[in-house]
Amino acid sequence: MGLPRTSVCHFFTVIALVGFCLNAAYGKITSVYVRADVKAVDMPLDADVFRVPPGYNAPQQVHITQGDHDGKAVIVSWVTTEHRGSSEVIYWKEHSRKHYKAKGEVTTYKYYTYSSGFIHHTTLKNLEYNTKYYYQVGIGHTIRTFWFITPPPVGDFPYTFGLIGDLGQSFDSNNTLTHYEQNPSKGQTVLFVGDLSYADNYPNHDNVRWDTWGRFVERSVAYQPWIWTAGNHEIDFAPEIGEGEPFKPFTHRYPTPYKASNSTAPFWYSIKRGPAYIIVLASYSAYGKYTPQYKWLEEELPKVNRSETPWLIVLMHSPWYNSYNYHYMEGETMRVMYEPWFVKYKVDLVFAGHVHAYERSERVSNIAYNIVNGLCQPISDQSAPVYITIGDGGNLEGLATNMTQPQPHYSAFREASFGHATLEIKNRTHARYGWHRNQDGFAFEADSMWFHNRVWYPVEDSAVSKS
Ligand SMILES: *[C@@H]1O[C@H](CO)[C@@H](O)[C@H](O)[C@H]1NC(C)=O
Ligand SMILES: *[C@@H]1O[C@H](CO)[C@@H](O)[C@H](O)[C@H]1NC(C)=O
Ligand SMILES: *[C@@H]1O[C@H](CO)[C@@H](O)[C@H](O)[C@H]1NC(C)=O
Ligand SMILES: *[C@@H]1O[C@H](CO)[C@@H](O)[C@H](O)[C@H]1NC(C)=O
Ligand SMILES: *[C@@H]1O[C@H](CO)[C@@H](O)[C@H](O)[C@H]1NC(C)=O
Repeated sequence: MGLPRTSVCHFFTVIALVGFCLNAAYGKITSVYVRADVKAVDMPLDADVFRVPPGYNAPQQVHITQGDHDGKAVIVSWVTTEHRGSSEVIYWKEHSRKHYKAKGEVTTYKYYTYSSGFIHHTTLKNLEYNTKYYYQVGIGHTIRTFWFITPPPVGDFPYTFGLIGDLGQSFDSNNTLTHYEQNPSKGQTVLFVGDLSYADNYPNHDNVRWDTWGRFVERSVAYQPWIWTAGNHEIDFAPEIGEGEPFKPFTHRYPTPYKASNSTAPFWYSIKRGPAYIIVLASYSAYGKYTPQYKWLEEELPKVNRSETPWLIVLMHSPWYNSYNYHYMEGETMRVMYEPWFVKYKVDLVFAGHVHAYERSERVSNIAYNIVNGLCQPISDQSAPVYITIGDGGNLEGLATNMTQPQPHYSAFREASFGHATLEIKNRTHARYGWHRNQDGFAFEADSMWFHNRVWYPVEDSAVSKS
């Protein structure tokens, strides 16, 4: 897609603006770059990225995620269609002849008139850190071989996370994934903030679109773990067609290691991965006082040892700080419940999706209100996280372009474009962050920051100069 001339001009204005605002202590930017608001279109069923791998009963939709609390286990999942086949995974360390075998489980489900293939989940345990492993699935029929690299030991750095949300399966989604793969920052694990396939936008939630999504993203998620957050498009609650069990396709297809963090449901859990402690919250499971999620989080936050894992990151689907006219204030009730904890425990960064655009907040909190004191405005707070909305993966619902005006003071940067981000945790104090737009070159960062750790270096973050 070529940029029209006026946009190119605007584009350079944005760079100038970003540069200018480095000097302002409290800069607000609504990017003047406006991407043509063309509705994203789903790739057709015969698109190259949806091709079924050749061979009898060949495993398809191969994906991995972390399988324990510390990063020494990986859950391998895949689907076979002709025959149940074997759930065994054969795996070995690079340069080693010793092969290991792990046995797993098979599940299937029905959704309205759809019947799933055989969905396999096998956990590889006791892996060594910082090690490349090869693995094979499809044992007995058509064998396919993949690889992954385990994270450094808990607490070690550097480590680079990718951030993707609300991906879907449009041509723009494919563009986002390609930009992530080509990004020179080389993300090692994706923190996915919810809304995977958007199958529920099809008649009767056509679950064939869950299968096509699985084949589309395999090229990344078979080689590096994606950490799953449940979004509203995972609920698939459709009692009008007899489907009254929320999250049925998602839970059958995308397991999470929730038991390892003593969670009682797959939608909220935590993992340690290298230098980061990552807490995944569930916007669409009960979170009020006395609920399982509330009790879990209340016990969870004091367990985070920042000497061990300096960086504390939270993922959720529905953002708390969002100044677009889409899903406005939907995250408000959860914010009211949990925000005081985030400030108390000095969460570094919160990533959310849901709004199909990009926004980064200042460090703000809004926790003083008690019904009668009138203190209900976000205030600058260096103990508070930065909130980033990154629901700009490119799904078929299109961009969120309508923003509240004027830009509220808590909003530091906002732009309605598709893209992804990377977070390179360099050490205990510094993390380099960059947001990449699909319309730019792979290396270009449209918004970038040095984030400073809230416990070890709690001074103001700094935007990065682009000269
Ligand atoms: C998706 O992106 C990949 C990698 O850039 C490309 O090879 C493929 O042709 C694209 N597919 C579609 C349907 O756009
Ligand atoms: C989970 O609970 C068990 C039993 O109370 C405890 O031993 C374990 O450390 C807990 N795990 C985590 C990750 O909190
Ligand atoms: C926190 O982690 C550090 C470094 O791993 C360790 O020395 C210390 O004992 C831990 N503290 C607690 C309370 O577990
Ligand atoms: C933007 O959203 C506001 C609030 O919902 C609405 O009043 C306005 O008409 C919208 N503007 C456009 C251009 O859609
Ligand atoms: C942490 O990384 C930053 C950025 O690379 C660097 O400036 C700083 O000196 C590093 N700190 C330590 C203690 O190595």
